[in-house]
Amino acid sequence: MFVSFEGIDGCGKSTQVNLLVNYLEEKGIPYIKVREPGGTHLGERIRELLINQEMCARSELLLFLASRAQLVESVIKPALKNGKIVIADRFAHSSVAYQGCGRELGPETVKILNDFATDKTYPDIVFYIDVPVDVAMERMKNQHKDRIEKEGKEFWERIRNCYLKMAKEHESFVIIDGTRTIEEIHREIVKVFNTYL
Ligand code: ADP
Ligand code: TYD
Repeated sequence: MFVSFEGIDGCGKSTQVNLLVNYLEEKGIPYIKVREPGGTHLGERIRELLINQEMCARSELLLFLASRAQLVESVIKPALKNGKIVIADRFAHSSVAYQGCGRELGPETVKILNDFATDKTYPDIVFYIDVPVDVAMERMKNQHKDRIEKEGKEFWERIRNCYLKMAKEHESFVIIDGTRTIEEIHREIVKVFNTYL
């Protein structure tokens, strides 16, 4: 089973990934956790470029896709083959939302390129944690911001709307109301996860 977590920065995604991973540890369920961009030697080097280096939107997209292709081939496919659960802190849908809609490269273009980069390996469940942009910005207020996180409010609104549209189009999407407490959200995620298991 392949599970990804998606949402705008500050939605609480990494918090929930860690809680689900702790749950799997307690239950003794075999899993691997991956993060995007990164998760492989090549991916971590690409991550450094993406965080600091100024670049045009198309270069940005292609670097995310290169990192993803490597992650799929060398980590995700082998893990799924060995019966492990793959938990991804972001995956292909981040590129549709951030580069397709945030950077306005077009969601359809990004979807086609994602098919190529992932060899059509997609999550069975996408936990999309939805919060209004203001809530996410408030949570991120005191954190150090990288190149992408410094964007303005309209950028985040485009990304959120794009996620909400994808949630309507894809059966794998589960919309999670991220404005509740960390504990409440975790309980809902575990409940949904167990029905798939
Ligand atoms: P993301 O990975 O989506 O950027 P994080 O999990 O790092 O988000 O959370 C961003 C900040 O918001 C952290 O300080 C975290 O403790 C806080 N946070 C996470 N979930 C909630 C929640 N449900 N309610 C309030 N604050 C939260
Ligand atoms: P991430 O490490 O998940 O940041 P955070 O923990 O703060 O959510 O992601 C790094 C940044 O890269 C984040 O701003 C989202 C962005 N991103 C894209 O723009 N496109 C993508 O395809 C991916 C995977 C991430």
